[in-house]
Amino acid sequence: MDQKSIQTAVTILRAGGLVVFPTETVYGLGADAGNASAVRKIFAAKERPADHPVIVHLASERQLSQWASEIPPAVEQLAERFWPGPLTLIVKRAKSVIDEVTGGQDTVGLRVPSHPVAQALLQAFGAGIAAPSANRFGRVSPTTVGHVREELGDRVDLILDGGACDVGIESTIVDVSGDTPVLLRPGRISEEEIEAVLHVPLGRLGAGSPRVSGTLAAHYAPSLPLVLASSGMLDAVVREQASRRVVAVLARRPRPSYSSATVWMVGPRDAAQFAHYLYAGLRQLDQCGCSVIIVEAPPETPDWAAVRDRLERAAVGSGAKPIAADSAVRTA
Ligand code: TXA
Ligand code: MG
Repeated sequence: MDQKSIQTAVTILRAGGLVVFPTETVYGLGADAGNASAVRKIFAAKERPADHPVIVHLASERQLSQWASEIPPAVEQLAERFWPGPLTLIVKRAKSVIDEVTGGQDTVGLRVPSHPVAQALLQAFGAGIAAPSANRFGRVSPTTVGHVREELGDRVDLILDGGACDVGIESTIVDVSGDTPVLLRPGRISEEEIEAVLHVPLGRLGAGSPRVSGTLAAHYAPSLPLVLASSGMLDAVVREQASRRVVAVLARRPRPSYSSATVWMVGPRDAAQFAHYLYAGLRQLDQCGCSVIIVEAPPETPDWAAVRDRLERAAVGSGAKPIAADSAVRTA
């Protein structure tokens, strides 16, 4: 990334404009986190409800004290171990943080991304950049500049190109604002890795937990109905669906010669690689001219937790009707 583009981006941010930038997880739709009208433009561009909080991106953990009113040991330990990187920490907000960023809550989400373009931008800007994922509300996050254009086109002032995002799914979110740290959204950094640093088990999301749009049941959805089928049921589900509609499959094994699916995409067998590829794969399947996407459900192991989470939400968000009474077939 040339210095000139970074300078242009900084000028736009200072003037209250919108800049899309790459992070190691997904592309972010950025605005000056200290400028209320700039942050409101994010919500308009995304068509997102205004009471949803956005993450503030910082160049370094040295800026924490400007945004957090308290920095408990858990924050220091997690920041030390995982920043810069794909981890968002929810902390008690400093008084100066505006309601447009926090959604009116008493906490703020903070993250120091590692992507070199994000780092260059944040260092040159010198302040916090509010940025949700650069997609329209409820849709799959963009992991390439092509996806960003599909989602937001000319609704933004500048798009910085950083290639395909490495992680491919959104950051892990841990709420460290209360007595017990709580995992709000699984991601590349696993629950086990966080517990290994904190030496306490993470709490569960309960009724009193803060609003997280990423925790809405219906989220991250392609346009086509998406059906999750266990590995053992995949062939039967494909056969049943293909008798009624045009089927696209995303599986972790090659297409059997007898399969009646119209499109069969093979995803990586490694969880991190599958995550990297997931959203690009779903976008491609969404546009392949089929009428349903059937995805082979990931293994029930910890390394697949984040991918399972996104696929389960995509299945709910797509509004697919359950197609079999068998509990091995999950759609919702
Ligand atoms: O990887 C990521 O986190 C990407 C990149 C661009 O950094 N960002 C991202 O932002 O995924 P977004 O807005 O699509 O998802 C952030 C999630 C939302 O579900 C939001 O509700 C939650 O973080 N969040 C932000 N601030 C919060 C707060 N104070 N309390 C609870 N949840 C919060
Ligand atoms: Mg998002």
